[in-house]
Amino acid sequence: MKTPSLSPQSAEIVAATAGVVAEHAVEITRSFYPNMFAAHPELLRVFNKANQAIGEQPVALASSVVAYAVHLIDPDAPDFTPVMERIAHKHVSLGIKATEYTIVGHYLLEAVGQVLGDAVTPEVAAAWDEVYWLFGTQLIAAEARLYALAGVDPEEPWRKYEVTERTEETDEVFSLTIKPVEGELPAHTTGQYVAVAVDLPNGERQPRQYTISGAPEGAFRLSIRRVKGVDGHPDGQVSTWLHENAHPGTVLDVSTPSGDVVLEESDAPLVLASAGIGITPMAAIVEDLAERQPQRPVTLLHADRTASAHPLVETMQASSSRLAHVAEHVWYEEMDAAGEARGARVGRMDLTDVEVPTNAKVFMCGPLPFMRAVRRTLMDKGVDPRNISYEVFGPDLWAQDPDNDAAEQKVQLNAAMA
Ligand SMILES: Cc1cc2nc3c(=O)[nH]c(=O)nc-3n(C[C@H](O)[C@H](O)[C@H](O)COP(=O)(O)OP(=O)(O)OC[C@H]3O[C@@H](n4cnc5c(N)ncnc54)[C@H](O)[C@@H]3O)c2cc1C
Ligand code: HEM
Repeated sequence: MKTPSLSPQSAEIVAATAGVVAEHAVEITRSFYPNMFAAHPELLRVFNKANQAIGEQPVALASSVVAYAVHLIDPDAPDFTPVMERIAHKHVSLGIKATEYTIVGHYLLEAVGQVLGDAVTPEVAAAWDEVYWLFGTQLIAAEARLYALAGVDPEEPWRKYEVTERTEETDEVFSLTIKPVEGELPAHTTGQYVAVAVDLPNGERQPRQYTISGAPEGAFRLSIRRVKGVDGHPDGQVSTWLHENAHPGTVLDVSTPSGDVVLEESDAPLVLASAGIGITPMAAIVEDLAERQPQRPVTLLHADRTASAHPLVETMQASSSRLAHVAEHVWYEEMDAAGEARGARVGRMDLTDVEVPTNAKVFMCGPLPFMRAVRRTLMDKGVDPRNISYEVFGPDLWAQDPDNDAAEQKVQLNAAMA
C-alpha cells in the first residue's frame, strides 16, 4: 500500500507532539468513547461492551493512531499495511460505514483537546486532524474494497442464517452449523471469522466474532465457548445467549466472512499451535488440507486444561486421518486416563524436544502469553518470524505487550521521540 504523506507543517507538529499524545493516548480514547456514546447511543450496538469495560478497545485504538502517526513521520518505519488490513477486516466484520468516520473523528479530536488542554493550539489540532483523516481514508478505502469483493452493501451488512445443527463438543464448547436462509453460502477463506449479532434480553444488541471452524456441505460451522464470569465478573453476554438460545431453527444475524489470518496457497509445511478455544481456526485449516492438500506436512500442537475440555477432537481426527504427513502433540494441565490414552503430556505446551521444520508456516491462536512463548521458542528453533501468523480472540494488543519481543512499534515510537 502506498504511504500517504503529511503536509510539511503537520509533519513537524506531529513529530514534536507524538510523545505527549502517546503518553495521554489511552486517557484520550477513554474520554472519547463516553462522549461519543452519549451523543450517538446507536453506536453502542456495534462496539463490544466488555472490551470497553475491560479497557482493551481504548488501548487498541489509541496505540494504532499513535503507531500510524509515527509511521507517517519515520521514513524507516516498517510497512503499515498488515496493521491496516487487520483493522479493516475487523471493521468489515462489524459493518462499519464510511460515514461513521466523521463521528469518530469529531469525538476523538475533541477528546485530544479535552485531555491536552492549552497544548492543543489550532495548528496542533489541524495536524492531528490530518493524521486521523489520512488513516481514516486509507481504512475507508480498504474497507470499501473488502465490501465490494464480498458483494456486501455496508448499509445492509447482516444476513439471516438458520441454525441447522447443534453439537455439544465439551461441557463448555458447542458447535452450530448455520446456513443462509436465502441464497448461497458466501465465499470465505480458511481461517476467517464472521460476526454474530444478538438482541439481548436487556434490549441491548451486541456483535461478537466467531471463527468458521469448518464448512461442511454448504454451511458454516462455528464453535463457541460459553464464557463464565470469574471473580464476580458477569458471564459472557453473547456466548451465554447463544448457549441458551441457539438451537436448530434459530435464525441469527451473521456478517460477511472477514479476517486476514488465512491459509495461503503454498506447499510449505504447516505448524498449527493452539490453546483452548484457539483450536477453531486449526480445525478449519485441517479440514481444508484434507480436502485440497492431503500431502502437505502438518504439525498439530494443542494445549488445554484437561482431555475433557479439549474441543473438536473427533472433528480434527476425522480430518487429520486423511493427511499423509501429520505429527500431533498435546499437553494437558491436568492429566487423567483419557489424556494418557491420547498420548498427551502433562503441563503447558513445551516445544523443546518437538521437531519443527525451519521453513514452516505457523499459525497460532490462544491467549497472548501462550502465543508469545510459542513464537519465541519457534524463533529459537530457526523459524522465520515473518512466517508466524496469529489470531487474537479480542482486540489485538500484542503490539502493546510490555514483553513483546517484536515490539517494532515501540522502537519506532522511541526513535521518533528521541
Ligand atoms: C477474530 C475473532 C475470532 C474469534 N473466534 C472465536 C471462536 O471461534 N470461538 C469462540 O468461542 N470465541 C471466539 N472469539 C471470541 C468471541 O468473539 C467473544 O469474545 C467471546 O465469545 C466472549 O463474548 P461474550 O459476549 O460471551 O463475553 P463478553 O460479554 O464479551 O465478556 C467477555 C469477558 O469480559 C468480562 N467482563 C464483562 N464485563 C466486565 C466488567 N465490567 N468488568 C470486568 N470484566 C468484564 C466477562 O466476565 C468475560 O470474561 C473470537 C474473537 C475474535 C476477535
Ligand atoms: C481512523 C479511524 C479508526 C481507527 C484508527 C480505528 C482503529 C481500530 C482498532 C485498532 C481496532 C481494534 C482492531 C483489533 O481488534 O485488532 C478497532 C476496532 C473497532 N473499531 Fe475502529 N478505528 C477507526 C474508526 C472506526 C469507526 C469510524 C468505527 C465506527 C463506529 C469503528 C468501530 C470499531 C469497532 C466496533 C471495533 C471493534 C471493537 C470491539 O468490538 O471492541 N472504528 N478500530
